[in-house]
Amino acid sequence: MSKPIDVTIVGGGMITNDLLLPSIYHLQRTGVVGNINICALNTPPLKALHENPEFAQAFPGQSFTAYPSLDKDPSENFPNLFREVIAGMKPRQAVVVAMPDQFHYDVVMEALNHNQNVLCVKPLVLKYEQDIEIEKLALEKGLFVGVEYHKRFDRRSLIAKRQYGLGHFGEFIMGEAKLVEPYYYRHSNFQNWFTCDKTDPFVYVGCHYVDLVYFITGLKPVEVSVQGIKGKFPNGKEGYMWANGRVRYENGALLSVTDGLGYPDEASGSNEQCLTMFFDGDDKSGFVKHDDQFRGVTHSYLEEGIGAAGSIHNYVNPDFYRLVPWEGKGYKPVGYGFDSVAATINSIYSMENQVDGLPEKDALLNRQEIIREADEKGIIATPANSYINELVVEAARMSILRDGDAVRIIYGENPHVELGHAG
Ligand SMILES: NC(=O)c1ccc[n+]([C@@H]2O[C@H](COP(=O)([O-])OP(=O)(O)OC[C@H]3O[C@@H](n4cnc5c(N)ncnc54)[C@H](O)[C@@H]3O)[C@@H](O)[C@H]2O)c1
Repeated sequence: MSKPIDVTIVGGGMITNDLLLPSIYHLQRTGVVGNINICALNTPPLKALHENPEFAQAFPGQSFTAYPSLDKDPSENFPNLFREVIAGMKPRQAVVVAMPDQFHYDVVMEALNHNQNVLCVKPLVLKYEQDIEIEKLALEKGLFVGVEYHKRFDRRSLIAKRQYGLGHFGEFIMGEAKLVEPYYYRHSNFQNWFTCDKTDPFVYVGCHYVDLVYFITGLKPVEVSVQGIKGKFPNGKEGYMWANGRVRYENGALLSVTDGLGYPDEASGSNEQCLTMFFDGDDKSGFVKHDDQFRGVTHSYLEEGIGAAGSIHNYVNPDFYRLVPWEGKGYKPVGYGFDSVAATINSIYSMENQVDGLPEKDALLNRQEIIREADEKGIIATPANSYINELVVEAARMSILRDGDAVRIIYGENPHVELGHAG
């Protein structure tokens, strides 16, 4: 009998509500996941998750243990409670990291130091050195770390990766990507952490397409320059509301990436996103065009607030994450968002069950082999196979804070970033 994996989600915000918790609830009822804990900074987001009527409809009878407990004063913060919750877990279960970007490192290290496997939302961390530290510690202890770059699991990305690998496009040479998130994000908890000194739209969502181009082509970025446009959140804090970045690759190819928190709330959305890549062949060219915001389905509802965009008329993305009827109770999540969460949680589940009962020395060797295979395969993003993202993030932050100065990425013995154009 295989044993289910207990899961602690640290962070109870938008991504937990929109993707992580429903995916993990479904894995719970299929026997992969055991107990579910969710730890947030305070009770209001936990209450919102607990009372979400969609979860009651889709996952009847399922629930989670809230930390802090729901009866605590909603104005009281518990910034270190996640440490106690992680310390209280059985060894080699799973911690899902869903906090603001700048806290990922601390939570991932806390989880690894307490012998927990990890699924972390993107970006894993904001510094290359931290990525390597995580990779080393996790491998040493035989703990699986997956990073939730869900666009890798979109079928169109997987098809493009296969065709590129088979040489059917030629060599990537020029590309354009866009990801503009809804304007209303400015009114959310973002105003507390999405400040100029911490992050920007390129690092927040542009990183999805940077990762995707690397996923499809395997080409390493060597130079990054990003400019941003600042604005004020309703609470008066200043953030970059828009960003435009340019990434140069080791073969000279260029990718332009436009991002923002500015897709109109009234539009049929729920956001704007797309990728075009041109390729050089032998006296011919090829291209990939992904229209990622409009996938051929529109709905017009009787009332507002039904679809993801909230507007009466909606572009429906059937591919990322939707709840649909299935053979079991309630509804089940489908799409590449679910596939991506399930890929890491299933990997942890099968790894731990495969070595269950073996002497620890053999179990460790087996787990290390399974982790190396996942690194090599390159489908699930891991610290070892997605470290270029941390280098790009470092370069992007250095560049945007200098209003677009070029920053190069140096590989080799000691990968790092520095001001200047790639040679
Ligand atoms: N497309 C994607 O892959 C995607 C989409 C959205 C968010 N994300 C990532 O998910 C992460 C969270 O984003 P979000 O939109 O859910 O943010 P959010 O602001 O809605 O939620 C953040 C959560 O972290 C919790 N938190 C903060 N400090 C804490 C502490 N000390 N202990 C416990 N919990 C704490 C807060 O209570 C809140 O519930 C970010 O890293 C973001 O980049 C990824």
